[in-house]
Amino acid sequence: MTNILDYDTVALDDAHSALVIIDQTRLPNELSILHLTTQEEIHDAIYLLKVRGAPAIGVAAAYGIYLAAKNIKTDNYKEFLAKFNEAKDYLASSRPTAVNLTWALERMKGIVEMNMVLGVERIKELLLDESRAIQQEDIDTCRQIGEYGLTLLKKGDGIITHCNAGQLATSKHGTATAPIYLGHERGYGFHVFCDETRPLLQGARLTAYELMSAGVDVTLMCDGMAASVMKKGLAQAVITGCDRVAANGDAANKIGTLPLAIAAKRFNVPFYICAPSSTIDLATRKGEDIVIEERKPEEVTEMWYRERMAPKNVKVFNPAFDVTDSDLITAIITERGILYPPYDKAIKNIM
Ligand code: MRU
Repeated sequence: MTNILDYDTVALDDAHSALVIIDQTRLPNELSILHLTTQEEIHDAIYLLKVRGAPAIGVAAAYGIYLAAKNIKTDNYKEFLAKFNEAKDYLASSRPTAVNLTWALERMKGIVEMNMVLGVERIKELLLDESRAIQQEDIDTCRQIGEYGLTLLKKGDGIITHCNAGQLATSKHGTATAPIYLGHERGYGFHVFCDETRPLLQGARLTAYELMSAGVDVTLMCDGMAASVMKKGLAQAVITGCDRVAANGDAANKIGTLPLAIAAKRFNVPFYICAPSSTIDLATRKGEDIVIEERKPEEVTEMWYRERMAPKNVKVFNPAFDVTDSDLITAIITERGILYPPYDKAIKNIM
């Protein structure tokens, strides 16, 4: 039987100059593997959430810009740099909130700028090495987040998570799911409550699916049910991923994360954010400065329904993310350690 966890969320097929992804819009009903060879295909796959989740977007962008560079037909460094930057800006425009996208693209640009003297052909080889390093670091980072995260949990804990910060959002283990996977392997017997995550159902379609594939005990619930689960004492922790952490610890994540954090405070349930250091953005001072992506109204009114479920022409508010204020966050779990308030100091120390 195929297990979704045996497939790479993102991979490079260098021989065929293709970015290989699982089309996450088809899950859990259909496993469709896409081989993307043009920049338009890669850009649209990110925009349409065929590949999604902050770290996975970063890895996809790194391979994407490598493939763009490989295709630039010139030995002239200046011409190469101009075309590289054009491709970089195009990929960067696919989604605005997850900082891993621009982080990975800027890191790749650094390779081009630092190695001008080596010539274009060698730069292309170095870009390949760098994109592979970005993916390997993602794997190592998630595992380390898992190890740190697990120290905050006890055997038998109930854990609420939101959206998908799982293997499907990274190269392996996920961020918010990493402590869950490691604990599962070590017999912790966690009970995980997945928010379905309106409107795109990443919790139902992706998190519940991948955790069940690993044999984790999963209960799916509508987003509005989490507070009741906390009130009943069924959850000992809330753990989510994030798309960008500002320098003061405010954290953007999938819409619906903020109400979870508010409810967690009300019911004294610790609220943890898992953040690879690549998701921390020192250039963004506070949550209000984070650009929040707004998506199409159809995602709310008709997507996933057999027929439209809202009056025609109704006004729709569809931000893809919200920002959780840092005072609602018990700890931020990074691969460099667990951060506690005051976050501005803790973040400065590890970055
Ligand atoms: O719109 P999405 O599905 O890309 O949103 C994903 C999330 O909000 C995740 O929680 C976040 O990217 C962290 S993934 C480790």
